[in-house]
Amino acid sequence: MIKFITADDVLCLRNEVLREGLLTLDECRFPTDTVECAFHLGYYQDNELACIASFHPQDYAGYTGKAYQLRGMATAPQYRGKGFGNQLVNFALVYLRGQKTNYVWCNARKVAVQFYNHAGFEVISDEFEVPGIGPHYVMYVKIR
Ligand SMILES: CC(C)(COP(=O)(O)OP(=O)(O)OC[C@H]1O[C@@H](n2cnc3c(N)ncnc32)[C@H](O)[C@@H]1OP(=O)(O)O)[C@@H](O)C(=O)NCCC(=O)NCCS
Repeated sequence: MIKFITADDVLCLRNEVLREGLLTLDECRFPTDTVECAFHLGYYQDNELACIASFHPQDYAGYTGKAYQLRGMATAPQYRGKGFGNQLVNFALVYLRGQKTNYVWCNARKVAVQFYNHAGFEVISDEFEVPGIGPHYVMYVKIR
């Protein structure tokens, strides 16, 4: 089941999956977690939080229209490959279409490019390095 959840709700899984469990929960916060119109989604399986993603309004240079950035996409290791991440992203895209959003973009880890491709995103940048995390691409999906 997919639910809207709070910024606090995502921190534990964000730390475990995206920060190797090395940070405090407060250190896992993004400054954008609490900006106006930001929202967070959780996929629950057997009452356990299996997958998360966070979204906030943010334009990407060169693209016009109402935009959101996707951040903090993470599925707990034991729940990967079951389609939860794909369902969560699709839920967000349908919701954002209803909010008259034109496109969504993200800084995708190279290892996740195929996952985003499956969800309809395309690569729109050269490869770039995020220090301490690894190679990334900007990916984009047009909604309307
Ligand atoms: C990337 C991630 C969120 C995918 O979540 P998931 O719930 O396992 O994804 P899904 O099961 O919905 O997969 C959807 C599709 O993407 C593909 N896919 C998912 N992860 C993939 C990967 N690492 N490499 C290649 N393809 C992948 C799946 O094969 C699936 O395709 P299919 O429907 O044809 O089988 C998850 O692997 C994860 O948390 N990884 C570590 C953190 C990370 O890299 N996050 C992204 C940061 S930008």
